[in-house]
Amino acid sequence: MVDKSISQEAINREHWLKEEEHLAQRIQQAINPGGEQANTRLAEQGKRPVRELIQALTDPDSEFFELGIIAGFGMDYPGGVRDVPCAGLVTGLGKIHGNWSMIFANDSRVKAGTYFPITLKKHMRAQAIAEQVGLNCVYIADSGGAFLPMQADVFPDDGHFGSMFYNMARMSAMGLKQITLSTGGNTAGGAYIVFMADEAAMVANLAYSFLGGPPLVKAAIGEEVDAEALGGAEVHAHLSGGADHICQDQLAGIRKVREILSQEPQQRLHSQRWEAIPPAVDEEKIYELLPAGIHQAIDVRSIIECFADGVGLQEYKRDYAPGRGDKIVTGKIRIKGIPVGVVAANNSGIIFVEAARKATEFIIRCSLERMPLLFVQNSPGYMVGSEAEHRGIGKYGADMVRAVSNAQVPRLQLVIGPDNGAANYGMCGRAYRPHFLFSTMRARTSVMSGRSAAEVLLSLERRKRKSKGQEMTEKEAASFRDELLKKYELEAHPFYCGARLFNDRVLFLGEIRHSLALALEVSLLKPVPGSTFGNFRF
Ligand code: COA
Repeated sequence: MVDKSISQEAINREHWLKEEEHLAQRIQQAINPGGEQANTRLAEQGKRPVRELIQALTDPDSEFFELGIIAGFGMDYPGGVRDVPCAGLVTGLGKIHGNWSMIFANDSRVKAGTYFPITLKKHMRAQAIAEQVGLNCVYIADSGGAFLPMQADVFPDDGHFGSMFYNMARMSAMGLKQITLSTGGNTAGGAYIVFMADEAAMVANLAYSFLGGPPLVKAAIGEEVDAEALGGAEVHAHLSGGADHICQDQLAGIRKVREILSQEPQQRLHSQRWEAIPPAVDEEKIYELLPAGIHQAIDVRSIIECFADGVGLQEYKRDYAPGRGDKIVTGKIRIKGIPVGVVAANNSGIIFVEAARKATEFIIRCSLERMPLLFVQNSPGYMVGSEAEHRGIGKYGADMVRAVSNAQVPRLQLVIGPDNGAANYGMCGRAYRPHFLFSTMRARTSVMSGRSAAEVLLSLERRKRKSKGQEMTEKEAASFRDELLKKYELEAHPFYCGARLFNDRVLFLGEIRHSLALALEVSLLKPVPGSTFGNFRF
């Protein structure tokens, strides 16, 4: 029996806190792969856990904003590798001498820091952010190179191993520093992370870099040589010149990297920044306002209030086409003082013609004003049916996609609900290259809802059987539906999407404001270019 004394707000709060317990557990699994045993082995090798190194690398008391933490779980790779915790590579944003930098660190506790397809994807995503916003890159390299059983999936293609070095070379040419600290066995591809750097340091008696390790050398040319004599820090610092510095231990190496970057010009924000004003309501109120049910309607204005500065939402076309136009709320807010245009799916989030047109206009306006955009995604799709089709929902939806694609301003996406179909495109989903894409435990990203997909596929199955003179029983239909629903529930879930890096980070609801402000700050380190849009159909 439902206890009526418990308010909906309390139910919501309890639900999200419980969901976020699962998120916290998943993060712990990512941070501690292999548990105590792996840490003991690391200590025996004279190494510190990578996050300790990153903490030492970044400015004292500054934050390391990690990306893709829950990547790599449930991948089911060949050879019985189910999980690659954290994709075996830590990436994120940290400040070095006051400058935001992109930091990469192989976690040797995960299969010797070797690169699986998801590791490469994570490495490439962090490089893409660095290039897009103009960040120096620091690589803490400790990698056995390609995960050899999957060579065809990690070696030859664009986006595979070679692309890491292509990116390093190009970013270096753009003036973005590529600095490597080698703290372990960097073999073959792993060695190029050292040799492709603008400046590289190696840790004595710990770091090795060679194109082929001792077993390969023996097999190829019959030479017997140990790792130290083949490509240790002494060899590269004193003989080959492949390393520019030799350091006595990992922390000395970290200090060297900080020294190398100490002369970099200070970054500045290319935006007006007002004094930050706390939100009009307590930030934590979002736990109560966000409905526990994924398909329940949202009052998105009240959600925005939880993370926007208390100066309020300056709404654009608030009264336009009531009941249809307000399925998307548009307007300007500030987050920790930084102005941003917000395009937020409201209520059921079904996008009607009027909402699509309003959103398109607003995106263009913000782009012309060089104002960043935040898309708050909670939409199951554009309106379907003959009325909507006849009124041009296809072309107006396409106009929205065109505007989103060509808007050159920094764009962020935050998913707080259904994220389906073309609404994923119009609301700046992954393919539209938002500068940062954040998700929450309420996000469900799939081509359509499980319920809709089950009905579509069921009708096709029925037709197929009918053509063979067979009928589907109700029991068969129910089990068909059930299976698809389960599949969609699994695949739309933020853990599944986070594992595959369809988002950059799954946020706790309480860290939305902080994360959006940080992402805006980083995205505005480069001047905002003007936008041109091509032909609209209107
Ligand atoms: N591909 C697949 N698996 C690899 C691997 C690779 N390139 N390198 C290491 N591994 C696996 C190991 O088999 C081991 O697996 P297990 O935990 O299931 O036993 C795990 O990663 C840890 O490796 P280990 O050798 O115990 O770690 P280490 O810290 O002692 O040594 C290296 C690290 C990188 C020096 C060493 O693993 C090595 O030389 N690997 C081969 C590197 C290579 O030749 N790469 C060529 C890539 S093109």
